[in-house]
Amino acid sequence: MDSSRSYVAEAFSPTAATRAYCGAADADAIEARITALLSALTPAEKVDLMHGHTLGLVEHTWEVPGNEAHRIPGLHMLDGPRGLSAFTQGEATAFPVAMMRGATWDPSLERRVGEAIAEEVRSVGVDVLLAPTMNILRHPRWGRAQETYSEDTHHLGSMAVAFIEGVQSRGVLASAKHFAANSIEDSRHRVDVRVDERTLREVYLPHFRRAVVDARVASVMSAYNKVNGDWSDQSAHLLRDVLRGEWGFAGFVESDWILGTHGDVESVRAGLDIEMPIGLHFERLTSRIEQGEISEREIDVSLRRILRAQLCYGLDARARVADDPTRRLTPEHLSLAREVARRGMVLLRNEASRGAPALPLDAATLRRLVVLGRNADVENLGDHGSSNVRSAQVVTALEGLRARAGAGITVTHLSGDALDEAGQRAVREADAVVVVTGLQAGDEGEAEVGAGDREGLELPSGEVGLIRAAAALNERVVVVLEGGAAILTRGWRDEVEAVVMAFYPGAQGGSALAEVLFGDAAPSGRLPFSIPEREADLPGFDNRSDAVTYGYFHGYRHLAREGVPAAHAFGSGLSYTTFAYSELALSATTVRAGQSFTASVTVTNRGAVRAIETPQLYVTARGSRVERSPRDLRSFAQVELAPGASARVTLTVRVDDLAYWDAATSAWVLEPIAYDVIVAPDAAAEGLRTTVRAE
Ligand code: BGC
Repeated sequence: MDSSRSYVAEAFSPTAATRAYCGAADADAIEARITALLSALTPAEKVDLMHGHTLGLVEHTWEVPGNEAHRIPGLHMLDGPRGLSAFTQGEATAFPVAMMRGATWDPSLERRVGEAIAEEVRSVGVDVLLAPTMNILRHPRWGRAQETYSEDTHHLGSMAVAFIEGVQSRGVLASAKHFAANSIEDSRHRVDVRVDERTLREVYLPHFRRAVVDARVASVMSAYNKVNGDWSDQSAHLLRDVLRGEWGFAGFVESDWILGTHGDVESVRAGLDIEMPIGLHFERLTSRIEQGEISEREIDVSLRRILRAQLCYGLDARARVADDPTRRLTPEHLSLAREVARRGMVLLRNEASRGAPALPLDAATLRRLVVLGRNADVENLGDHGSSNVRSAQVVTALEGLRARAGAGITVTHLSGDALDEAGQRAVREADAVVVVTGLQAGDEGEAEVGAGDREGLELPSGEVGLIRAAAALNERVVVVLEGGAAILTRGWRDEVEAVVMAFYPGAQGGSALAEVLFGDAAPSGRLPFSIPEREADLPGFDNRSDAVTYGYFHGYRHLAREGVPAAHAFGSGLSYTTFAYSELALSATTVRAGQSFTASVTVTNRGAVRAIETPQLYVTARGSRVERSPRDLRSFAQVELAPGASARVTLTVRVDDLAYWDAATSAWVLEPIAYDVIVAPDAAAEGLRTTVRAE
């Protein structure tokens, strides 16, 4: 320690939030140790802990170097949302993209994905995982739609909380990104997202609040965009007042990467703690301190958060793994990737063909299967931006179908988007045709490092032509769509018998697809977004202007308000059976702020196969003094049922989730009115209905 320094840092009294952040570690001892460190470190040493030092990776990660003399371990950061980043050049398990995991509607499964990704990234010495991406899917043209979970804040929050808990249970710090309102790629470095306070609080922030309050996320990444005129890294409203002041966030905020920090003193004062990946601005902080433009005490506020994260997670007490490939691509992780892909496939349409539903395919009678489409035989894992994963052991759709079909079924693959004479004959004579199509990394992704935003919601025209050509020749055509979000089915869907949304299904996607198509498992995915009939049914998407306004309504809430039916509703998905709902009952008919109540419903499997159903609970406020959404998802649950079986399913609602944000008083208001409680299989279904009253 530098004994010549006379600076004495202020002592710190832990709060409930800082203690909770520290988990099982001794929070009081850690805060005292930080106080001692803050007295001992020089201003220059402190500033060194506040930024990365190289543009590229050093030994597999972006490093915020520690300080050996003071036993400060530093931080080692890396992406990402679907597995260990391709930036390392190492092979890892490519999990299905988060949007597909969202389609499972199963937080316990997502928790296991978080655990597995954390184990894989730790194998190269990562201690901060740059995930989850948890921005609202405001519009399906957003290039990074695939990285997030949903168009709905409640659903997104539930999945992100599970992921964060899984990651952090394995000793890796998660980073909730990108805070906030980051839902456009092409203009991400300049756009000012204008959003009124009520919309911000009710639509764009509640899932982040849950990441902080419920999951105790260790870090938060600020967004590139501006929000209401302030760069996200300089938004005192977002970082200081809301994130820290109201939610009690005790960890650190790091900037996003490509010029995502917009100043030094102003960013630090607003609440940014670390500039990544290099200190373009923060390097100046030492001289700013010397010139009296910011005090060392102000710097200490950031330092305390940075050190707290390192010490509460015990990074000083463990040896970093240099590189241990045996902990990646393990049989367990590959089998989890397959399970998740199977669970996330959404069956959008399944019409009768020759007297029976087109799906499942019957291996006992099927003899000739033809597989076509641009994604049939490619490794289509998703965006090539920061979420990219290099994965060995990728099973394409064609490989998965071939393996499942076995020796008795001839699988013919036709490439290209035109059918020549032999191709036409093969399609005509096939017992079933599977067209694996949709998007690729060249169509959507992160800006600069990937493809950016989508140009529209249609399939490539050649693929529509191919679907039509196949449909004209065969009565059992199954279209498998891959992509991050909604792809329009209008115009061709009525010509085909079945449609499956397969997202980017990860390394084992082909095997999972085959399991679902052949009926080894009934499809259980439910859409985490709405698929409209036309793009014009949605609010506009503007990725060119320097300023855009986000309104209160988008997705299913917008469609419900406009009275426009979706082609495929939020929450919807077919199975190989049907379910009946009955006997809706509430635990209470009058409720108060701070409480929870439950709705119970009997779900019956009316078919002949075991399957999973996902009852969803929507709320409508009656007679509110402000305009509310016709429906808001407030809870969901899941049940697996044997043929003919029934079960009672319980859905829990937090009463505070019935409140609206009153901008005039800057407070949540729980109105003493009646709320319809609707339990339904999707956002558009009538479902069962009852009423609860708030006091
Ligand atoms: C992305 C982040 C990512 C970072 C590091 C940025 O451009 O927006 O999501 O974590 O790069 O790869």
